[in-house]
Amino acid sequence: MNRLSVTGLRVRYGPIEAVRGLDLEVGPGEIVALLGANGAGKTSTLSAIAGLVPPSGGRILLDGEDVTGLPAEALARRGVGLVPEGRRVFASLTVAENLLLGGAVHAPPPERRARLRRMEDRFPVLGERRDQKAGLLSGGEQQMLAIARVLMAAPRLLLMDEPSLGLAPQMVERVFDLIAQLRSEGLTILLVEQNVPMSLDIANHGVVLANGRVSLRGTARDLLASDAVRGAYLAG
Ligand SMILES: Nc1ncnc2c1ncn2[C@@H]1O[C@H](COP(=O)(O)OP(=O)(O)OP(=O)(O)O)[C@@H](O)[C@H]1O
Ligand SMILES: [Mg+2]
Repeated sequence: MNRLSVTGLRVRYGPIEAVRGLDLEVGPGEIVALLGANGAGKTSTLSAIAGLVPPSGGRILLDGEDVTGLPAEALARRGVGLVPEGRRVFASLTVAENLLLGGAVHAPPPERRARLRRMEDRFPVLGERRDQKAGLLSGGEQQMLAIARVLMAAPRLLLMDEPSLGLAPQMVERVFDLIAQLRSEGLTILLVEQNVPMSLDIANHGVVLANGRVSLRGTARDLLASDAVRGAYLAG
């Protein structure tokens, strides 16, 4: 698997329609950057794809299989992983407890321990601090933990909601390096980001949302060169 196809997606919160007919395709092993101003509907889109809010219209397909309206649990089992906005690590639990809660819950214990070791190898700082409370990590370290926690479930489609928000420049670089590396390992990634230049730099395609609709889409290269994107995001 690994192809995500979204057609005509709608998300409604009572009277507010946050997503109004979104078409989106992420091919296997691609990164698509989902961009747009505050309130454009980016998080709502990811929440619907992850099964956290039921779509009020449209269809979501994973490798051609209709998964529209399935609960988050069922989507997680099918390989959908969400790194939520604002990190949301469990501050009072240890780093290792956070990782173990992260979605390897369906794997047998030896497999869980193996994944934990692999994650601690990949993110040495998490290994060094495995018994420390997650709330004591720096913001950048917490973001790495949030990503590692989702990777524990061995997802095939990774949804990332503003992973670089609020991080120091050096940490931002590390997060983007990691995202590019995850793609090279075969993950399909839908990336919501405020950092437009850096996300278009690693993405294959970009989609700009405005008021729940696509206002612009294209290859990352074309969007980087477009006057609309340059004017809105790359000024100065
Ligand atoms: N749980 C909710 N209940 C009611 N309205 C909501 C809810 N979540 C989001 N909205 C509204 O839906 C619209 C889209 O919000 P959403 O969070 O999807 O935007 P976003 O593009 O992720 O914005 P940001 O860049 O600020 O994270 C906004 O008008 C928001 O106020
Ligand atoms: Mg958001």
